[in-house]
Amino acid sequence: MTVKKPFGTTEGGEQVDLFTIENSSGTAVDIITYGATVNSIFTADRNGDKADIIMGFDTIEGHEKLSNYQGMTVGRYANRIADGKFTLDGTVYDLVRNEKGITCLHGGGELSHAVWKAIIVDDSSVEMTYTSPDGAMGFPGKVDFKVTFTLYEDNSFKIDYFAVSDKKTVINMTNHAYFNLAGKGDILGHELMINADCFTPTDANSIPTGELRSVEGTAFDFRKPKPIGRDIGENDEQLIQCKGYDHNFCLNESDGPAAVAYDPQSGRVMEVFTDLPGVQLYCANFLDGTRAGKKGVPLIKHCGFCLETQFYPNTPNMPDFPQCTYDAGEKYESSTVFRFSVK
Ligand code: BGC
Repeated sequence: MTVKKPFGTTEGGEQVDLFTIENSSGTAVDIITYGATVNSIFTADRNGDKADIIMGFDTIEGHEKLSNYQGMTVGRYANRIADGKFTLDGTVYDLVRNEKGITCLHGGGELSHAVWKAIIVDDSSVEMTYTSPDGAMGFPGKVDFKVTFTLYEDNSFKIDYFAVSDKKTVINMTNHAYFNLAGKGDILGHELMINADCFTPTDANSIPTGELRSVEGTAFDFRKPKPIGRDIGENDEQLIQCKGYDHNFCLNESDGPAAVAYDPQSGRVMEVFTDLPGVQLYCANFLDGTRAGKKGVPLIKHCGFCLETQFYPNTPNMPDFPQCTYDAGEKYESSTVFRFSVK
């Protein structure tokens, strides 16, 4: 069942709609047209009790004024581009430097803060579209974006990304949901597995140095499930610099999940599948409880974890990373699935 209702009006007077997709077991996903944002996901715990496992906002004001990309579709280039600059075929593109005036973060916030058009595809699916003009945030090419959200009967929630540009450009899209499988408190006790032998260490501006560092013997080894909080406070320069995990993991090729999260308290499990080469693990390190989220509950440090499936950060400036440059007319297509269950 898919239902549409009004969510609110932006400061600029644009109407924002909310779409709820619910399956026959009562798992439900709410998506709003502001930022093509996953606003809520209601899933059952091991006793069958439902909770909203998405940390974020319940008002349009929250999303517009307080957001750190909670639940948003992020692009056109997710994560960071160093010095807000890259070169394509000899032309230097100067981007919006929306992070400390130095880096371009999450494409300057364009896709995430736009009101998308939406249509109900069917009982399990909603499609959202947005066109980014040539030169937006400094990027070349007018790009047509489409994101399709589908909730299946097996409690898989799939996000399909599609984009096509009229000029050669770079594209890297993700969803920035902050998950908390308990629906409350912090996520330090959640057990996490990430199928990655390496991660990309970063400099002081959170830009990968280019090294693919083995996770072996480090706090970044999630190959066997472990509580997120177990090693987060280790005396590791990478963790100190980012106040915890805020790093891209280089996913191993596999048909299995890229990541699995499990909350021992509620029994909720989330598996993540993707066709992308990387995933950013970010644990809301920079939140400090000063911003109120849903129902006025403060968004505290580590209130959620993000698994942002992506091309590695700063790829346009890193020729050795898997590339995400697309010719005019060439299709960008990618899918990520979040599958929910209990144990
Ligand atoms: C980044 C974090 C940032 C967060 C919210 C993540 O993708 O890696 O550094 O604080 O997004 O903007």
